[in-house]
Amino acid sequence: SVITPPAHALLHWYDRHRRTLPWRCREGETPDPYRVWLSEIMLQQTTVKAVGPYYLRFVEKFPTVQALAAAPRDDVLAAWAGLGYYSRARNLHACAQAVAAVGDFPRTVEGLRALPGIGAYTAAAVAAIAFGVPVVPVDGNVERVTARLYNVQDPLPAARKTLAQLASGLNTDAPARARPSDFAQALFDLGSSLCSPRQPACGLCPWQGVCAGHAQGTAATLPRKAPK
Ligand code: ADE
Repeated sequence: SVITPPAHALLHWYDRHRRTLPWRCREGETPDPYRVWLSEIMLQQTTVKAVGPYYLRFVEKFPTVQALAAAPRDDVLAAWAGLGYYSRARNLHACAQAVAAVGDFPRTVEGLRALPGIGAYTAAAVAAIAFGVPVVPVDGNVERVTARLYNVQDPLPAARKTLAQLASGLNTDAPARARPSDFAQALFDLGSSLCSPRQPACGLCPWQGVCAGHAQGTAATLPRKAPK
């Protein structure tokens, strides 16, 4: 059997330390699915820091999914210039047109997953953050937190399935179910701050007491990577 770490401890930590990010709602605000989706696409291969100014310019130029859908493709590609991976920008435009054609973003993981450019991670992130669906989006940060919590020694990429399965159980207790959007973002913040790749700050971590990697002294070495 697998121990679920206490969601209330993570959420309490998040309430005190939540990062202010251009696309992130303040406490109590209602998220705009268009902005959540756009930011998650931009964040796939680009750092939080680098995305900021692009994101702000982009939403100023294309404030809604309808505006983006109606824009000429070259304008979209021009606004994307500098972010790289132009297939993302082409998919972004195609996705906006598909969403605009039916009126709004689908509110389920499966519905989102069917759209151009939306894979398993993005579907889960948008469903959780924008629509409060109780799913755990698994990016590199969440993989690292999970590998450490459960002291998973198998190297990536083979461990990916195991990590996804363990991560999907992180939100099974009531406080996580009550705040799926905050819970997902709290995991991102934990992974990108305290539970960092090289020098995790275990002494400040709300989950230190339940972390097998910390108990075993392996946290900083996880997740392992198979030699290339
Ligand atoms: N990385 C990917 N998505 C993120 C988000 N919504 N907030 C912070 N970091 C992220």
